[in-house]
Amino acid sequence: MSTHKIELTVNGTEHELEVRSNELLAHTLRDTLGYTGTNVGCESSICGACSVSLNGDVVKSCTVLAVQADGTAVRTVEGMCEDHELHPIQQAFTEEHGLQCGYCTPGMMMSAASLLETTPDPDEAEIEHALEGNLCRCTGYQNIVKAVQSAAEKMAPSESTLEEHREE
Ligand code: FES
Ligand code: FES
Repeated sequence: MSTHKIELTVNGTEHELEVRSNELLAHTLRDTLGYTGTNVGCESSICGACSVSLNGDVVKSCTVLAVQADGTAVRTVEGMCEDHELHPIQQAFTEEHGLQCGYCTPGMMMSAASLLETTPDPDEAEIEHALEGNLCRCTGYQNIVKAVQSAAEKMAPSESTLEEHREE
């Protein structure tokens, strides 16, 4: 099996590595680089457990070859924390009991983060639509939707921030 040298920036850290031509990005992230927050479930683009952000778009990393990701910037669930502080989405999933076994959770959070970037105040239907590629085998969907609603509230700019922008 031939190998290829690729460059990958993951959560802001640059990596240069050799990958096999048939290697899936999900396995490179987990097995070679140690970003084990990205889970692998079905390996066939159904469950969404392996969802990561690739150059700003959420993709299922079991459907992307590592060589295809050469030169891209990837964000995994590990990249959500800043200064060891949980991201508001992570806080909300904890507070709203948006997980049971937790296997789907990293993928759910990546999809939620992508939704909230473009739709900061989503309604229930928009949340369900954004998460329809992510399956939860514990079927905790109700609390997952609540968690995303709560995250949206936490991430909304405060009145004082809005006031500052108005004055600029
Ligand atoms: S492991 Fe990638 S979609 Fe299920
Ligand atoms: S919390 Fe178990 S699969 Fe979703």
